[in-house]
Amino acid sequence: MKAARRSAEDEVRHTRVMQALAHRHGARMPEVDIRPFQPRSLEAMVTENAVEGCVRETFGALVTAWQARTSGDAEVRRALGPISQDELRHAELAWAIDDWASERLSPSARDLVLQARRETLRMLEHEVGSQTPPEQLVREAGVPSREQALNLLHGLAVLVA
Ligand SMILES: [Fe+2]
Repeated sequence: MKAARRSAEDEVRHTRVMQALAHRHGARMPEVDIRPFQPRSLEAMVTENAVEGCVRETFGALVTAWQARTSGDAEVRRALGPISQDELRHAELAWAIDDWASERLSPSARDLVLQARRETLRMLEHEVGSQTPPEQLVREAGVPSREQALNLLHGLAVLVA
């Protein structure tokens, strides 16, 4: 619970840092719409954790760490270094939840969670494979190129599936 709360606080801080960075570069952050919390079954919770945490957040942590190392802009590198460490911790939390919950699920429910992870990986591969980030973003923000992002994803696939 403490780790989850800390993660939520991290995300609020990250949003502020990224808003300031976007503002300085003349961009605006889009508004996000967060649905109200709904109680759900353990299986539904673990599946969402698998999709959003184990796959998407872990990939996000990899991409952010990549940006923190490869951005040509020192300000971006400075901002993203600590954020990438927070994101890695969030990903670790997702995997710890997955571990805790998988002992409490039936074999068939566990199988569905694994399928959800694989399906999310396939969707991510499609998303990443169909995008070519602008050269300026690769250079200045350290955003991985299409090939680099696919390589990161394939490395992650070994762990996830
Ligand atoms: Fe996060």
